[in-house]
Amino acid sequence: MNYKVLVIEVNEEFRTEARRELLRRGLAVRDCDNLEEGMAALREDGDIQVVLVNWRSRKSKTSQGTDIEGEVIFHEILKVRFEVNVFLFTKEKDPRKIGGKGLITGYFYKDDRDYDDMYRKITAVVKEKQQAPFFEELVRYASKSNDSWHTPGHSSGDSVKHSPWVSDYYEFFGHNMFASDISVSVPALDSLLDPKPEGVISKAQELAARAFRSKRTYFVTNGTSTSNKILLQTLLKPGEAILLDRNCHKSVHYGIIAAGAEPVYLIPSVNNEYGIFGPIPKKRLYATMDRALDAGKKLKAMILTNCTYDGLIYDLEEIIAEAHKRGLKVIIDEAWFGYANFHPAFYPCAMAAGADYATQSTHKTMSAFSQSSMIHVNDPDFESIEDFFMENYMLYSSTSPGYPMIASLDVARKQMVMEGYRLLSNALQLAEDLREAVNSLDGFRTLEAEDLISEELKGDGIRLDRTKVTVDITQSGYSNKKLEHLLLNEYGIQVEKTTFNTMTFLITIGTTRSKINRLFLALEALSKRKGTSGVLRPAEPLQLVLSEMRYLPRHAFYCDGVFAPVQKCDGRIAAGMVVPYPPGIPILVPGQIITREIITYLSALFEKGVEIHGMQDGFINILTPEEEAELARRGWAISS
Ligand SMILES: Cc1ncc(COP(=O)(O)O)c(C=O)c1O
Repeated sequence: MNYKVLVIEVNEEFRTEARRELLRRGLAVRDCDNLEEGMAALREDGDIQVVLVNWRSRKSKTSQGTDIEGEVIFHEILKVRFEVNVFLFTKEKDPRKIGGKGLITGYFYKDDRDYDDMYRKITAVVKEKQQAPFFEELVRYASKSNDSWHTPGHSSGDSVKHSPWVSDYYEFFGHNMFASDISVSVPALDSLLDPKPEGVISKAQELAARAFRSKRTYFVTNGTSTSNKILLQTLLKPGEAILLDRNCHKSVHYGIIAAGAEPVYLIPSVNNEYGIFGPIPKKRLYATMDRALDAGKKLKAMILTNCTYDGLIYDLEEIIAEAHKRGLKVIIDEAWFGYANFHPAFYPCAMAAGADYATQSTHKTMSAFSQSSMIHVNDPDFESIEDFFMENYMLYSSTSPGYPMIASLDVARKQMVMEGYRLLSNALQLAEDLREAVNSLDGFRTLEAEDLISEELKGDGIRLDRTKVTVDITQSGYSNKKLEHLLLNEYGIQVEKTTFNTMTFLITIGTTRSKINRLFLALEALSKRKGTSGVLRPAEPLQLVLSEMRYLPRHAFYCDGVFAPVQKCDGRIAAGMVVPYPPGIPILVPGQIITREIITYLSALFEKGVEIHGMQDGFINILTPEEEAELARRGWAISS
């Protein structure tokens, strides 16, 4: 595929010449004489990888002469497509007069008319991004078919391919799966835990850092669950505190136990109309931060999930700035939002919004294999803790990481850089088409950001990631369970998430129009049939009944505890996590005081048959009086 260059040049002679010369050398070219048309081309044509632009430009077709100048032009371009490379093409002789140098990739003085040089520089830049150094080295190594005298024991599949019992294993996964599953003893492929500066892993991580806007990027082969734990244990010493959404993923709660840190919980907003827990209202967030600091807690960091599972996006820049003002490091869990830097519909990603760290499940929403995750770092103080970070990275990592996973991270990055914008534009278009089609049906209605957020979030600048389509099924005549069952069993459609009156569909870079239309056809048929059960609205509003912490989660976690009927736990301390599904938010964490209100809440859920992790036949794990006395004797009680 030819690389494509957009030339924005007001002077017709130069524009025509640049187009002709670049075309002659094999590049694809689009050109225009004003910025507005240039931006329209960039929005519409995802194959453009490079912009060649004059320092002095015309804003629009109707402008008289040149009326926009300088680095503001680069900002305009990068606001639309951050991943393109911008080259300056100018008659400005004095390089001191050129601002915004950090935003551009290169400079050409027009009167040099050296189009060979221009061609070489442009192609070199795109070629660099187009590499997948680890993947390419893995392919090279695997194709040599070396005799393997090292792990894994399957020896490139030799142990299974002729087996009368398990050759189907080889046939199903195929030769390349086995040939690429090799051990860390292959020097050409480097070591994830100790990468050589010039090795293919360092190179792949460097390219990822550039793509995702971080100073450093680390590949992780055990999911964002592990990425979160690595960061929490790096940033928090025992007894130090972290601000977190109570609704954070369970890996965050476990990471806090492992770090021996003190959690300060932020209570998420609730939308009872649709049974959704959403972002934390700004006011509550700042007040909780200030209260914790005033109480003398050693508050060091904050972690939030952006976007939420339902696709609600925080006004991150302001929130991160407020946390920084108070001296906190900010981690953003972007498990569901790793693609945010590749389309303006989602800008800014956490790194661009000023976060110190971001964790991403590259496997969830991009093309990497399951468990492949990345940690991005922009913390200005990172150098001082880098060694400790590496210790924690090793603490959680296998010494035999899966090479296909590392390769998949490398390729997922390459794909996003080369065609992420186009794929995301397509996903967004499919999402809008699905919305329009669903809204034409009786009984189904798609929800907008203002429907999904609760009253307390109004004015907080929350946006919706429109690739996540939530459908209100209240008027459909079906309950969520019935609809989920019918979609799966009659139409082969698996839904991502439901609440009592909504269903959420995730549109990803892999979603096809066939898939969208099959979903529509299924919903259309179900709409015509009209259900008879109706939604089962919960008797009580959604609520999070919480209480104070008496001990650090880690201290309570390491007690054996005893299982007791929940009814008899008033005033006692939880030794384990208790998590009802839905909504999957821990009601109790180790070290938390069990109140009468919590007992009533859990008992009611238990009687309704709700799945509750950490509760067996109505019994939960609590500290024994002796364990409590021992923790108190050691002076480990938390002051609230
Ligand atoms: C917000 C959030 N963070 C982290 C994770 C863990 O990610 P992984 O499955 O990559 O370990 C998940 C998984 O669902 C999640 O929803």
